[in-house]
Amino acid sequence: MDRYQGPTEDLKAKVSALVQPDRVHRDLYISEEIFRLEQEHFFANTWNYVGHASQISNSGDYLTLEIGGRPLIVVRHSDGEIKVLMNRCAHKGSRVVSAPCGNTGKVFRCPYHAWTFRTDGSLLNFPVKEGYEGTAVRECEAGKGLVAVNNVRTHRGFIFARINETGPDFESYFGDSLSSIDNMADRSPEGELEIAGGCLRYLHNCNWKMFIENLNDTMHPMVVHESSAGTAVKMWMGQPADAPKPMAIEQFAPFMSNYQFFDDMGVRVFDNGHSFSGVNFSIHSKYSGVPAYEQAMISAYGEQRAHDILGLVRHNTVYFPSLTIKGAIQAIRVVKPIAVDKTVIESWTFRLKGAPPELLQRTAMYSRLINSPFSVVGHDDLHAYRGIQEGLKASGNDWVSLHRNYDPAEAGQAEVTANGTSEISMRNQYRAWAKYMTLSM
Ligand code: FES
Ligand SMILES: [Fe+2]
Repeated sequence: MDRYQGPTEDLKAKVSALVQPDRVHRDLYISEEIFRLEQEHFFANTWNYVGHASQISNSGDYLTLEIGGRPLIVVRHSDGEIKVLMNRCAHKGSRVVSAPCGNTGKVFRCPYHAWTFRTDGSLLNFPVKEGYEGTAVRECEAGKGLVAVNNVRTHRGFIFARINETGPDFESYFGDSLSSIDNMADRSPEGELEIAGGCLRYLHNCNWKMFIENLNDTMHPMVVHESSAGTAVKMWMGQPADAPKPMAIEQFAPFMSNYQFFDDMGVRVFDNGHSFSGVNFSIHSKYSGVPAYEQAMISAYGEQRAHDILGLVRHNTVYFPSLTIKGAIQAIRVVKPIAVDKTVIESWTFRLKGAPPELLQRTAMYSRLINSPFSVVGHDDLHAYRGIQEGLKASGNDWVSLHRNYDPAEAGQAEVTANGTSEISMRNQYRAWAKYMTLSM
């Protein structure tokens, strides 16, 4: 695995000049050099989401992705364990797997000269072996097979990996922010989630950080989403109070809640850049009940525990830097930086095992209306991100302000709860960004 050499003095100086406690330099979003450096250092030093166990339930099932520019294979090995391997042939470096997902059986076979590797990456064989007799091929890097990422952890089905060998372990990296994943899985009467349907991929012409920042930016919905959610609210206006609300109206309308609503929602940040808004309630709190589901939850957990699980209705949780989840609606979005001004956002929906089909219908409806490339709400956000990407090219002001409710005492704490419209989640992300750009061994 990558032997991390630690940050150079030059990199440390660069990073500390770019991140202030209450503002960040525009180069974080527009500099190609910073993008290259964060791919190399930041993404290799952080724990990143690489997939869900339900996508690779049988041995030989795999999926491929990139983290920090490194091509990876996530595969279920023959012993049932999940392995993360560099998608790079041990011979001359060819990508071994090209498909986004599939089943490889017992071996990976390189498409160039047919070297074969077991699903734990170890070298199995190569054609016409005699040609290697008397050579050192088995003793050098080539003989070790596909390089394995050693830091891999699965939490309630969510698989995370860290490329570099050194750094905080999984539990200390995520801390109590994992309670949002727990709540999402606990919402299944069987305590398990599975990915349902395919992936909605949505190319954003902006830096990845704009999306991540926006997740818990609660000062924007009532402004940016007036054109979409505001229209839905207007259309519904004048309906009798007891008229059954269509699901779409129920999902759109809360985006138009006022500043007080979002402020009272509350936000909680955790060390290493993680956060969630909706400490007290959220835009999902008022969805109509599904009696058969509530009954299934009570049968599975008992009245009190079911009440506690369903009473935790958080908004977005950001697992910095790559995964964002909505536990209350069982939808996740995954961030895939492509270039300094290009980011693919993947949306996935989950089925709560043992829950009635209405729950998945609600999730699918939410993804379509809010997160998908066909969404009207998602376009509002994308328009704002593009506007920033363009606007930051202006000269005369190099800084992005994150001053809202700044308190110097907030830094260095494992957990802080603040008013929901504070920009604390963004300041917290950039403290973590600076830390993992320059992590010392
Ligand atoms: S590059 Fe893979 S077998 Fe030659
Ligand atoms: Fe938004």
